Amino acid sequence: MKAALLAMPLLLAGCDLSMTKQARHDAQGGATLWQDGPAASDDAPAGTVAQDQPARDAAATTPPHVTPALLARGEDRYRIFCTPCHAETGNGLGRVVQRGFPRPPAFGNQDNPRRTADAITRGYGAMYPFADRIEPDDRWAIAAYVEALKTLQPGQGK
Ligand code: HEC
Repeated sequence: MKAALLAMPLLLAGCDLSMTKQARHDAQGGATLWQDGPAASDDAPAGTVAQDQPARDAAATTPPHVTPALLARGEDRYRIFCTPCHAETGNGLGRVVQRGFPRPPAFGNQDNPRRTADAITRGYGAMYPFADRIEPDDRWAIAAYVEALKTLQPGQGK
C-alpha cells in the first residue's frame, strides 16, 4: 500500500494530460466529414426534420378550443405584436401607422381565425410574417382574441 502511494506521483508524471493534444478540428478549418466542407457547418443535411416538427405542424393546423385562458393569452400577445399597427381596438390606426406605415383594414367579416392565424404565419401584403416570433399555439390564441375584438367593437374604424 505504502509503496503504491509512493509510486503514484511517478506514474502521474508519466502521463501527458495536456488538452492541446487531442483530436480536434481547427476553427474555420476543413474537414473530411463533408466533401470540401468546413469543419463547422450550420447547413442541415437535406431532409433533416426538427424533433418537434410534427407536433408544431399539427399545432399550426388544428385550432384549439377557445377558453378564457386562451383568450387572455391571445390578448396579451396581441397587445405586444399587433397593436403597433392594428391598434388596441383593431381599427388599424396603431402608432406605426400614425407615422406612415400603410394602414391595415379594421378586422371584419373577411377575417376568421384560420385566416388570421395564416396572416400571422405567412404575413399578408405589407405585413411581415411572424412565424419566427409567435409559436403556433399563440397564433391561435391571438386569432381567437381578434374574433372577440370584432364582436366587442363591430364596425369600428370604418
Ligand atoms: C407593421 C405593422 C403590422 C403589424 C405589427 C401587424 N400587422 Fe396585420 N396587417 C398590416 C397591414 C398593413 C395589413 C394590410 C396588408 C395589405 O393589405 O397589404 C395587415 C393585414 C392583416 C390581416 C388581414 C386583414 C384582412 O384584410 O383580412 C390580418 C388578419 C392581420 N393583419 C392580423 C395581424 C395580427 C394578428 C398581428 C399581430 C400578430 C398583426 N396583423 C401585426 C400591418 C401589420
